[in-house]
Amino acid sequence: MHKNIDKIKKLEGSPLILKNLFTKTELEKFLNLYHTLPTTVHNKKQNVIKKRWLKDYNEELENIFFNKLKKEIGEFKMDNLKDENNEDILGLFQESYNPIGLHVDAGFNLNEIIYKQTLIPLTSKGSTVIFKNKFYGNSTNFTIDENELKIKDLKYGQNQRSSEHLKLFKKKLFNKEDHEKYLKHEKIENLSGLEIDTIYEWELGSMLIFDRTRLHCSSSLIEGKKIGLTTFTKK
Ligand SMILES: [Fe+2]
Repeated sequence: MHKNIDKIKKLEGSPLILKNLFTKTELEKFLNLYHTLPTTVHNKKQNVIKKRWLKDYNEELENIFFNKLKKEIGEFKMDNLKDENNEDILGLFQESYNPIGLHVDAGFNLNEIIYKQTLIPLTSKGSTVIFKNKFYGNSTNFTIDENELKIKDLKYGQNQRSSEHLKLFKKKLFNKEDHEKYLKHEKIENLSGLEIDTIYEWELGSMLIFDRTRLHCSSSLIEGKKIGLTTFTKK
């Protein structure tokens, strides 16, 4: 569990969707950056390409992003992983063809005061489901898949696997209509006790900001590929 839960809770709030935050030109720059960066992970099974937003590739974009975010959430630090050369990784670009499962991006250090995370869509079709439910451990993929739960040998920066969420929230069957409409890639049993807060419909130029303690996942509505940029902050 996080050591500073009280402070973390005081910083929590509703998900925030900012429209028309980035211009077309800025989005093109983000996409160019994405294409320039080296590929980190290409998970063929999940069909996901991940690229780390490495520092100094485009300083102008770093400043644009930092200033826009500061205007919305006040003082923050980027909660970065380090690359092999001990350089900061500012965020993660993900190109996916399949929906991403239920998880939380609460970090890998229980002493930190985790704050907000952001999502910038770089393609226009897709949606992200933010639940009301929160988790105060480390970054975790929530699953009831036995084979997934067996995975214990984690590399630096990998999420742990757990079904603990099913014990944390009231055992109430997840809304069947919502499951059918948005979350068909998840077993409904894995969503027991969860309640949807916000469905963020991806829109170019917009950005989603939400608490790092929130459970979330992609919706099952994907047409072709999605590219999104995620970043994580702390106080
Ligand atoms: Fe996430």
